[in-house]
Amino acid sequence: MSRQYLLKDNDFLVSQTDTRGNIIFANDDFCKVSGYGLHELIGKPHNIVRHEDMPKKAFQELWESLKKQGTWSGYVKNKTKEGQYYWVYAMISTIKHAKTNETTYISCRRKPHPDEIRSVSELYRTMH
Ligand SMILES: Cc1cc2nc3c(=O)[nH]c(=O)nc-3n(C[C@H](O)[C@H](O)[C@H](O)COP(=O)(O)O)c2cc1C
Repeated sequence: MSRQYLLKDNDFLVSQTDTRGNIIFANDDFCKVSGYGLHELIGKPHNIVRHEDMPKKAFQELWESLKKQGTWSGYVKNKTKEGQYYWVYAMISTIKHAKTNETTYISCRRKPHPDEIRSVSELYRTMH
């Protein structure tokens, strides 16, 4: 069993991807919590922080929702570079760049309440 990395109440983790989920930006809190330097993240697929306990279905829903509604929000268990796990509540939105007409996605994450973590862990266990 790996150890949990507990987010601070004011941690605010931001990352931005292209339409294939490759990271094009990450803020300082994202780097601090994940344990990766910015140079290790840029250009990498976002599954670099994927935790094996996350059901495939959750990410299928994430991508379907982004394609259909342009947004998704939900709970994600991620893995740090050192192998610890951390839970986030993520809100993803679409950015349409006016000049280039290019689409990117941005995810903003906060610390979830322990009660929320307990119930979503159980739900995800049933989704495997
Ligand atoms: C803006 C954005 C943020 C994402 N953030 C995460 C994340 O924090 N953790 C994660 O495991 N997947 C995240 N994903 C989903 C990944 O792109 C990927 O679908 C997921 O890790 C599953 O990996 P797989 O498709 O290789 O199975 C994000 C996707 C987008 C578009």
